Amino acid sequence: MIDLKTFYDEHPINETEILDKLAADGIPESAVGPEHLSRYDQDHYGGLAATDALVDILGIEADMRVLDICSGMGGTSRYLAYRYGASVVGIDLNESRVAGARRLTGLVDLDHMVTFQVGDAADLDFPEASFDRAICQEAFLHVADKEAAIGGCHRVLKSGGGFGFTDWIATDRLDERARSIFAETFAAPRSIGLAEYGALLEAAGFVHVQARDLSAEWKGILTERLEMFRSLEKETVSRFGQDRFDTYIRNYEFFVQQIDAGALGGGRFGAWKP
Ligand SMILES: C[S@@+](CC[C@H](N)C(=O)[O-])C[C@H]1O[C@@H](n2cnc3c(N)ncnc32)[C@H](O)[C@@H]1O
Repeated sequence: MIDLKTFYDEHPINETEILDKLAADGIPESAVGPEHLSRYDQDHYGGLAATDALVDILGIEADMRVLDICSGMGGTSRYLAYRYGASVVGIDLNESRVAGARRLTGLVDLDHMVTFQVGDAADLDFPEASFDRAICQEAFLHVADKEAAIGGCHRVLKSGGGFGFTDWIATDRLDERARSIFAETFAAPRSIGLAEYGALLEAAGFVHVQARDLSAEWKGILTERLEMFRSLEKETVSRFGQDRFDTYIRNYEFFVQQIDAGALGGGRFGAWKP
């Protein structure tokens, strides 16, 4: 069973790979801006457009204080700062992701607007009512205690604050074998359905909950993403070895098959703290 730390320490999308890609595009480190990083630092499905869709739901505006839960390499945090003027705190459990996110953010001079901390989404370490908005993309799939994550998010939001996120959603076609494969290979211990997520949000005290099924659009996005990971063979093998690359691709193929079969899909959620 792969643990979360190893999964992201050996992930094909990483700080070195992002900078190598930009160098290959002819952009030296000294000339890198946040809009350049955005081509390669988005570790969720659908890139910047997916973030814009959450911003539309949440009405994120300049000077709002936003919590980016499970911020990874910090792509969304930086985008919310440079595109929308938000002041962002990103948290992630993985220390190498947080260190990489900090370095990339410093490189593009956004560290006065965006900071990162190591932290657990299921145990948010912030005072009550400290954020205007919270966002989370493709990360709750790794969190078994979704009640604690959603409850904590409600606690740290100000009254009138909004929470928007996207995540894997399970359908009744997701069988036990596939569930245990995802736990073993993706550090994804518990996938739940669209309605179940809606119920968890309401149980935590959120209102005006909206849940949109993105499964149809994710099919094409994930097929392309598999091709993108395949295209990173040389870089991934040189960094983590052939075995890790082969295993990653095999596991991703299984994931895409489950998406194609309608066993897994995607959901986009918006919810408000009264
Ligand atoms: C697919 S990446 C998404 C990163 C980022 N949201 C983005 O869109 O680019 C998932 C991230 O969730 C983080 N993560 C998983 N479980 C976590 C937890 N319990 N608390 C904090 N971070 C977590 C992982 O370390 C990883 O960086």
